[in-house]
Amino acid sequence: MTIRFESAGVSYGARTALQPLTLELTEIRIAVIGLNGSGKTTFARLINGLTKPTTGRVIVHGRDTSDEKAVLGNVGFIFQSPQNQIILPVVRDDIAFGLKSRGLTKADIDARVAQVLDRFDAGHLADRRAHELSGGELQLAALCSVLATGPDILILDEPTNQLDLRNRALVQGLIDGLHETTIVITHDLDLIAGYQRVLVFHGGQLVADAPATEAIRRYREIAA
Ligand SMILES: Nc1ncnc2c1ncn2[C@@H]1O[C@H](COP(=O)(O)OP(=O)(O)OP(=O)(O)O)[C@@H](O)[C@H]1O
Ligand SMILES: [Mg+2]
Repeated sequence: MTIRFESAGVSYGARTALQPLTLELTEIRIAVIGLNGSGKTTFARLINGLTKPTTGRVIVHGRDTSDEKAVLGNVGFIFQSPQNQIILPVVRDDIAFGLKSRGLTKADIDARVAQVLDRFDAGHLADRRAHELSGGELQLAALCSVLATGPDILILDEPTNQLDLRNRALVQGLIDGLHETTIVITHDLDLIAGYQRVLVFHGGQLVADAPATEAIRRYREIAA
C-alpha cells in the first residue's frame, strides 16, 4: 500500500493550510502530530480525497485522489467525534448501512456485520442504541462500521480524545491489532510511542519525519 504526495498543497484563498509536500508512505503505522491548526487534518483529508490539493497531486494505490472517486472507498476515515459518524440509531444497522451501497445481498451483508463484530469482540454492542454508548464503545462501533467496508487504509483523527484511561487502553489495543495501514492523528503522544514513522507539522509545513522519539522531541521544541 503506497500513498504518494507529489508537491501536494492546499490553500484557501490567501491562507495556506498545507505547504506543497512530497513524500511516500508505505509503513503500516504512521502518526501525525503538531499544534492545533498546523495542517494535520488537511493532510489526512487529502489521502481520501475529502479535500483536493490546490497544487500537486496525491496518489493512493496508483490512483490520483482528485479524479478517482473509488479512492474514497479504499480509505476509511474516523472523525474526531464518532457520534457524528454513526448514522443509524442501532449499532448493527449502522454497520450494515455502509455496506448497502456496495451491491451485496442481505445474506452477505449480515455475514460481514457478524464478522466485524466478532473480529473486535463487539457482539455485545450490536443491538445497543448508539446514543446510549460510552465514548470508548462509540469509538469501537465507529471502527466496526468503517472496517466492515474493507478499507485498505484507515485514518483515525484523534481517536483517544475524550476517552478515559480504560477506554483509551481499549482503543489503543484495537489500533495496535489492526492489519490495515493506519494513520493516527493525535495529541496523545503515549499512543504512538513505538511508531517508526511520525510526521510533525508546523504552520502547514512538514518539519520532521522520523521515528517517534525524535519526532516527539522536535514537537516538544516547537510547543515550548
Ligand atoms: N475549509 C477551510 N477553509 C479555510 N481554512 C481552513 C479550512 N480548513 C482548514 N483551514 C485552515 O488550515 C489550517 C490547518 O487546519 P487543520 O484542520 O488541518 O489543522 P489541524 O492540525 O488538524 O488542527 P487541530 O489539531 O486543531 O485539529 C488552519 O489554519 C485552519 O484554520
Ligand atoms: Mg485536526
